Amino acid sequence: MPKPVKKVVIPVAGLGTRVLPATKSIPKELLPVVDRPLIDYVVSEARDAGIEHVILVTGRGKSAIEDYFDHAFELEATLKAKGKNDILANVEKTIPRAGDLSYTRQQAPLGLGHAVWCARAIIGDEPFAVSLPDEIVPHRPGFLRQMVDAYENVGGNLVAVEEVPQKDTSKYGVIAPKARKENLIEMTGMVEKPKPEDAPSNFRIIGRYILQPDIFPLLETQEKGAGGEIQLTDSMNKLNARQTFHACICEGVIHDCGSKLGWLQANADLGIKNDEFGAALADYIRARL
Ligand code: G1P
Repeated sequence: MPKPVKKVVIPVAGLGTRVLPATKSIPKELLPVVDRPLIDYVVSEARDAGIEHVILVTGRGKSAIEDYFDHAFELEATLKAKGKNDILANVEKTIPRAGDLSYTRQQAPLGLGHAVWCARAIIGDEPFAVSLPDEIVPHRPGFLRQMVDAYENVGGNLVAVEEVPQKDTSKYGVIAPKARKENLIEMTGMVEKPKPEDAPSNFRIIGRYILQPDIFPLLETQEKGAGGEIQLTDSMNKLNARQTFHACICEGVIHDCGSKLGWLQANADLGIKNDEFGAALADYIRARL
């Protein structure tokens, strides 16, 4: 049995440029999908995968995320005084147990690889997960749960993947497959944002990873890659020369809320599934079409 995955790194320092101006003065991780911010979905998916400790890699202008995971005394006292106990219970559910959440700050936007490296001291010498907060998986079991289950069998490192049209490979990290067994593909490597003609496959990396701590020394010495950024993909590729990497084709839908269309689709999808007003929303959308 490989060492268990107990910690997740969630980089939240990004500027949210794809959804401006909505993210001009609020962190994109706090954009709501129905009634909860994106970050809440990602943390809850990690908890359901057995993760005990969440590490948020924050940046300037992101302190509202820390407030979201803390008590809001005035709000809670007012809800209590007015007897709004259901709402209060929902608000209190957002607060993790003290000490289960850590913050570290990425002082400059140098890339995803650099953001993950910023968490090295909190991770220490154990395997860990990385979840990118733009992408949310509302159903259960979530992608991270499915990956942790696969990891318990194969160990090493894992990334989640999905097939995309070949023309879209330049938007993502793309894997080079070796052998496929059901929903797991053993990999020989990966490339960040390849041109369609250079892409080794059309399986793109989704923002869910399980990594061994041996990635940190590689990230530390790494040069800039695609887009002039320190890429996680480049160090994973180097690690793949020494350790196994599997790509996991997870079951279910993932919504990319880092784009305006993806965020609207997530709201429509989860909105029509909502117990309280889903049927009314579906009627409304049908009538508008
Ligand atoms: C990052 C990764 C990329 C991955 C993508 C998934 O890219 O570098 O490999 O496919 O997330 O969302 P970014 O979206 O930060 O450019």
